[in-house]
Amino acid sequence: MNGTSSLFKAYDKHFKIGAAVSCVTAGIFKDILGQHFNSITPENELKYSSTEPEEGQFTFDEADKIFDVARSLGIKVRAHAPVWHTQTPDWMYVDGKKPAAPELIYERIEAHTKVLCERYNNDVYAWDVVNEAACDDPNDLSDTYRDSEYFKLCGEKFIEKAFKAMDKYSPNNQLFYNDYSECIPAKRERIVRLIRTLQERGCRIDGFGMQQHHFAAPDYDEIKRSIETYASLGLRLHITELDVSLMATLNEGERRLKPGDPGFAEYIKEALRPTPERLAMIEDIYLKLFEIYRSYSDVIDCVTTWGVADDFTWLDDFGVDKDMPKVKQHPLLFDTEHKAKGCVDTLIERA
Ligand code: GLA
Repeated sequence: MNGTSSLFKAYDKHFKIGAAVSCVTAGIFKDILGQHFNSITPENELKYSSTEPEEGQFTFDEADKIFDVARSLGIKVRAHAPVWHTQTPDWMYVDGKKPAAPELIYERIEAHTKVLCERYNNDVYAWDVVNEAACDDPNDLSDTYRDSEYFKLCGEKFIEKAFKAMDKYSPNNQLFYNDYSECIPAKRERIVRLIRTLQERGCRIDGFGMQQHHFAAPDYDEIKRSIETYASLGLRLHITELDVSLMATLNEGERRLKPGDPGFAEYIKEALRPTPERLAMIEDIYLKLFEIYRSYSDVIDCVTTWGVADDFTWLDDFGVDKDMPKVKQHPLLFDTEHKAKGCVDTLIERA
């Protein structure tokens, strides 16, 4: 035993322990955050749709609630995902009735970056500057970039511009690129290409955010290989959105049936039965993942779970049909009663 009942204190020698919170859950989970976490990520509150719903009209009420909680706990914020293909209002992409020219988009990104940084820089230690810009179309292996609205209008240059703007207004915080399915070899190659291009163009990119959403049994060897590959680019690594869906206890490899696939209805019914064995498997996956993260703590600086407890998680309506009732996927380290799952003690013991 290492004599503490706090995850973040136990992991102090390895990396920070973070949680994503909303403006609502930041208050609800304040005590758990204070006891176990030393990094906070706003789930949606720093995205364009939350902070600049109309061009030039900024709203910070929701983000401020999270920053207030973070300040009162003495925790610095891992700021998340302004430039992203979703949760961005349409004004970004148009100029009156015409599509916006690239230069106008870059000006808008720069103006937004300036306002956000001036408001929050002192309470932030890292920014996910651009989120999910790599293509993940399994049928088109040649493409590096996602065919987003940003990409259609600007080509890949918007990524570079976003990093340069953030570097200008946030020179003392770490700058990250963040993405998912980051351990699948084909996607990993694209992410590497994207990051190398930024480096070649002289962008300051300090780190890569490995989201680590698990919907299928993790391929632990690929996770290790990915950590090594990303670290070999000279980057610091953060695990940014860790959660382990109940589906991960059923799916083999990367196979996950999606709504519309043949046999989906039976599959999802089975996938979401929270048997004691499956709930225990989720905890076991956490233990194995943390074992890997600890073994790479020379390059990993933070491990963030995407939420705190199972009663507030985006997964309640992910991966199921729109008409289906919400489902519990039990993906986090604290249960719906806000009690630490058994694996939390074990994670502390093994730290
Ligand atoms: C992605 C984004 C996050 C969040 C999650 C789902 O992974 O990076 O900001 O929206 O999806 O909640």
